[in-house]
Amino acid sequence: MLDEIRAGLSRSPKEIPPKYFYDHRGSELFERITELIEYYPTRTEREILEAWIPDRIPGLDVRALVELGAGSGEKTRVILDAMLAAHSPIVYVPIDVSAEFLKASAARLRVEYPGLKVLPIVADLADPLVLPRELPGPHLFAFLGSTIGNFRPKKAAALLGRIRAAMSSEDFFLLGVDLRKDVAVLEAAYNDAEGVTAEFNRNVLRVLNRTLGADFDLDAFRHRAVYHTGAHRIEMYLDSTREQNVTIPGIGVVRFRRDEPLRTEISCKYDRESVAALCSAAGLHLAEWKTDAKEWFALALAESRP
Ligand code: AVJ
Repeated sequence: MLDEIRAGLSRSPKEIPPKYFYDHRGSELFERITELIEYYPTRTEREILEAWIPDRIPGLDVRALVELGAGSGEKTRVILDAMLAAHSPIVYVPIDVSAEFLKASAARLRVEYPGLKVLPIVADLADPLVLPRELPGPHLFAFLGSTIGNFRPKKAAALLGRIRAAMSSEDFFLLGVDLRKDVAVLEAAYNDAEGVTAEFNRNVLRVLNRTLGADFDLDAFRHRAVYHTGAHRIEMYLDSTREQNVTIPGIGVVRFRRDEPLRTEISCKYDRESVAALCSAAGLHLAEWKTDAKEWFALALAESRP
């Protein structure tokens, strides 16, 4: 972590990887974001899942669900219900960076779903994908919520390539992506009126203070989210409200100019073509594409093609 933070802070603009948002408090703040009026992705993705998955799952004949960036696993229930209606028992492998949150949601699912075997894995999505041994197949891999948007195109293709490497020819991959749309709609989703996103953004500094013993003054950083049209992505920043020095043990004194931006997240937006290109760069074939009526969000179903 120290190496990653040091490397990020020595870039221009300074950067912190978005995975550090998700301590327990950060995961809870993200859950609150998903309930905001302005933040359409979660509810839109759920709508597409509900309209499509119950009919589609039986034909896939899958026995295990491997979910990357599982989070609270709320939307996952739509998939689990459909899988359990077709077969029992089934195995669910949620993979997430937030250990505490992952354990809590695994415990809840075990109580609610007697026919489900839950094998949670705490892992960074940037690491190789190592699955539990003796996982029944075929497998459905899922990467929902447009979390793929946090990765630049090259890293995104590499991540999909790691999923592809774990897939056999009968397996499927379900990817949720946020689509390109009116800038006002996109920017509102990351600048909610209640300020929950701003709290979520600043929480990353609290994580650094707690885990690294840094002394970031949360009140001296301002939340900002803007859409970069050329790169098709939302960029989220914490701007330093004044000139200031921050001490991070193991790294040293980090100087911020007044109004200097610290980038905390990118959230890439896609269209069908860019998703097809991403899939083929990873050795996957985009087979099916489902959107909501407004075409704000999409679910892509891909196969590994030898
Ligand atoms: C969890 C990465 C999909 O990019 O929309 C929400 C995170 N950041 N509001 C996104 C997020 C600010 C979210 N992802």
